[in-house]
Amino acid sequence: MKILVTGGAGYIGSHTVVELLNVGHEVVVVDNLSNSCEVALRRVEELTGKNISFYKTNLLDEDGLDAIFNEHEIEAVIHFAGLKSVGESVEKPLLYYENNVAGTAVLCKVMVRHGVKDMVFSSSCTVYGEPATVPITEDFPTVAYSPYGRTKWIIEMMLQDLYDSDPEWNVILLRYFNPVGAHKSGRIGEDPNGVPNNLVPFMTQVAVGKLEKLRIFGDDYPTPDGTCIRDYIHVIDLAVGHLKALDKLADNPGAVAYNFGTGSGFSVLEMVHAFMKATGENIPYEIVGRRAGDVVAAYAAPQKAWDELGWKAEMGLEEMCADAWRWQSQNPNGYAG
Ligand code: NAD
Ligand code: WQD
Repeated sequence: MKILVTGGAGYIGSHTVVELLNVGHEVVVVDNLSNSCEVALRRVEELTGKNISFYKTNLLDEDGLDAIFNEHEIEAVIHFAGLKSVGESVEKPLLYYENNVAGTAVLCKVMVRHGVKDMVFSSSCTVYGEPATVPITEDFPTVAYSPYGRTKWIIEMMLQDLYDSDPEWNVILLRYFNPVGAHKSGRIGEDPNGVPNNLVPFMTQVAVGKLEKLRIFGDDYPTPDGTCIRDYIHVIDLAVGHLKALDKLADNPGAVAYNFGTGSGFSVLEMVHAFMKATGENIPYEIVGRRAGDVVAAYAAPQKAWDELGWKAEMGLEEMCADAWRWQSQNPNGYAG
């Protein structure tokens, strides 16, 4: 199939493009490179021996998108493009609503105009807010605590409304938990701008000597060791899950949500120890106060994805940590170096 991948130069997008090309799909990438660089796509081409049609285009550029759909017979869209920093979204809410929500509306308008009504959308476990219990099933109430989270929540509603208005649409909402790790080659991985917000890229930068020590945000949560619990999932498992979601579109599923997590929760301290064990690197850390907005525990019930997509995550913490470290140690300055 010919697939349009928005945000395909980014972290999850680039890993998914590898898997798409490896099984023989043709890939057109639209990315404005606001949080990525073209080198990632060149490396994907090296890894796969396949070509990518790349357009440096903003989703808000309706004419630009139109031209791409005129040039290519797109059959389905995997929609990763969006801004994703929770903290930045609090400071710049309009940027997030415009980029993520308006950008998706423009994309959908262009899709309708060209008769393309199949989409896989990158949603997030953030739409569950602070869950009342764990594990989280897809029918838990959705509520979001940050402007970023609300953009995901609104887009989910918008896509559901689109399906309600026209049942020819198929929209698969993938609610990712905490994607980590990198491609086994060490050639592509996560390359955050500035100081990382997320745990694993922060640890890899401590290990490579760019940051002095990890600050663990709170050890007084009601969990066995007092630190927060998350469902970390290898980015390759996630990427492979997108192939299954694409296959599912052929069954005309309508609008449907799936959790993309492993089903296992690990604490911050467990993750730090797993990283040290997998890499042999020491991670000095100190416990500091809680970070505003962190939920105590969030992990997926992954059964629905297994039952309906035939997909489940295969890789464990050590593999996630070892692969994240291979990428960081081979590319201490990310794609820039
Ligand atoms: P990323 O920032 O690496 O990739 C997003 C890509 O979208 C970037 O390449 C960026 O340049 C591009 N982009 C942003 N706005 C655009 C626009 N208006 N037009 C064109 N391109 C644009 O992020 P990622 O980690 O790969 O995440 C991909 C998607 O998954 C995002 O929608 C994110 O919200 C969602 N998600 C990510 C995580 C995570 O922890 N990484 C978790 C849950 C959901
Ligand atoms: C994990 C744990 C931190 C950094 C974020 C987004 C969420 C989704 C996934 C997009 C927490 C602790 C972290 C550090 C720490 N993204 N931590 N020191 O917050 O679960 O989720 O990414 O949709 O919306 O919020 O991930 O990696 O930031 O944090 O102690 O320097 O590590 O407190 O308990 P989070 P994270």
